[in-house]
Amino acid sequence: MARRKKIYEGKAKILYEGPEPGTIVQYFKDDATAFNAEKRQVIEGKGVLNNRLSEFFMTGLNAIGVPTHFIKRLNMREQLVRAVEIIPLEIVVRNVAAGSLAKRLGMEEGADLPRPIVEYYYKDDKLGDPLVTEEHIAAFGWASQADMDDMVALALRVNDYLSGLMYGVGIKLVDFKIEVGRVYDGDFQRLIVADEISPDSCRLWDMETGKKLDKDVFRRDLGNLADAYTEVAQRLGVMPKQA
Ligand code: C5P
Repeated sequence: MARRKKIYEGKAKILYEGPEPGTIVQYFKDDATAFNAEKRQVIEGKGVLNNRLSEFFMTGLNAIGVPTHFIKRLNMREQLVRAVEIIPLEIVVRNVAAGSLAKRLGMEEGADLPRPIVEYYYKDDKLGDPLVTEEHIAAFGWASQADMDDMVALALRVNDYLSGLMYGVGIKLVDFKIEVGRVYDGDFQRLIVADEISPDSCRLWDMETGKKLDKDVFRRDLGNLADAYTEVAQRLGVMPKQA
């Protein structure tokens, strides 16, 4: 078999050169990391689950006109995506106080927020992805004001879509992170959703019991991570329920 050219290896995924120019193969690993990779473990099956779930969310977003990099799933662990110029920011949307927001502002986890809050973090592992403001982004040229407007609009559309989808299966979308990238279609350039959307990058709580069904299960040693992701996949009908 011809060896593919590896472009980049991250904590949870590997990117390979795709079969056509402008395409990339995204491979989902089983590695789970938290606290900037200070905590790590191989969780058998996680890559397969995240590949399927990210396919499901991105396909739905594409269908309702929210552009994403997703083209098609290739196999259990790989999907074909459009190559993008990644914007070096993580865009977080929060509906409920949790995680670093609750800690930073001394809020109780679980408090509803008066409106969705959009935050930017600068993607830099050495710095631990620090929170940044639009002032930093503009001053350091990470994105233009028009890009920031587009990023917020994309993030809020993803929030509406994912919140509704999760609500339908009894899950509260507490918060999530997306990454966006720039693509060029002839003279026209635009930002699209890139990377992945999965329980690795969302907080998902059962609406009845508050049970966590996301990466906090691993971060906080709350049980079996693959079981939690399987439950999300089964509730969404992405994977069949066990008899
Ligand atoms: O840790 P924090 O509360 O800031 O995380 C907010 C949301 O962004 C969570 O859903 C978390 O899983 C996600 N996130 C991520 N990748 C990071 C940091 C946060 O997916 N590097």
